[in-house]
Amino acid sequence: MLAALAATLGVSAPLPALAAGEVNIYSYRQPFLIEPILEAFTKETGIQTNVIFAKKGLEARMKAEGENSPADLLLSVDIGKLNGAKLEGVAQPVKNAVLETNIPAQYRDVDGQWFGLTTRARVIYASKERVEQTSITYEELADPKWKGRICTRSGQHVYTIGLIASMIAHKGEEETKTWLEGVKANLARRPTGNDRAQVKSIYAGECDISLGNTYYMGQMQTNDKEPEQKDWAESVRILFPNSEDRGTHVNISGVLLAKYAPNKDNAIKLMEYLASDAAQHLYAEVNFEYPVLESVEPSKLVKSWGSFKADTISLNKIADARTKASELVDIVDFDAGPN
Ligand SMILES: [Fe+2]
Repeated sequence: MLAALAATLGVSAPLPALAAGEVNIYSYRQPFLIEPILEAFTKETGIQTNVIFAKKGLEARMKAEGENSPADLLLSVDIGKLNGAKLEGVAQPVKNAVLETNIPAQYRDVDGQWFGLTTRARVIYASKERVEQTSITYEELADPKWKGRICTRSGQHVYTIGLIASMIAHKGEEETKTWLEGVKANLARRPTGNDRAQVKSIYAGECDISLGNTYYMGQMQTNDKEPEQKDWAESVRILFPNSEDRGTHVNISGVLLAKYAPNKDNAIKLMEYLASDAAQHLYAEVNFEYPVLESVEPSKLVKSWGSFKADTISLNKIADARTKASELVDIVDFDAGPN
């Protein structure tokens, strides 16, 4: 079943399935990241893992497969996608003491339908040369002092929507709209490219600050395939917005239990494992993310960017404001760039 499915999706074929003692995973997270964790899980429990990796379409596939879906777990990123899967009806609630102890309440669904496993902060990348400020707030991005100096990716990208939704959750819709208009007026150019492209623009002198997820700093700093990215990273420092008040906006990668999980017990064992000390260490070391388990430290490189206070608002509240956020991006015509 999984092999056939892999063929349809055009993705790597999974390991051969065993009659018992297995768990089937649909994953948006890349092999380099989760394979070491799954190997460690199998070593400890004897439970085999079969994985379908894909870049999109897994929720639709689960829906189409319905009760016959082999999927036990979905590994995904961003509150938008995780909560989206819940709204699509492909998840089922889990009530579990290990998950509830290890994962702070703001990073798991109020109904137990998704659980955060790692966090990433949406921060400011600031030019070392041209930005003297060592702390900043998201609100300040709308200040005219930044006119022509900000670069960002599309307002409709899930990462941007998450941040705008967090502004709505804290400040309300009207204030967020005014803020978004201010940020738009300060842009150096039309929003385009990914988070790293913005840092490249700072390096090139096209702008002085950008918005990006924290792990991209690590990916640039250690990039031997494209060593020029190390120069981009070297040109900026990370500022953690609002560390002195409500905290920096944080998003998650996470997991959910599939509605028709055929290997439910094993799936829950794997969920517990992913939130455990051992797996949280692996997550921290491999992808420059922050562990959700508070007793596990971030990697040395991640720690070198500085410490910060994370916004503790419930991601459920942010998820609820996402539709509004997307509407505001259209209303202010954010992606048209500065006037
Ligand atoms: Fe990303």
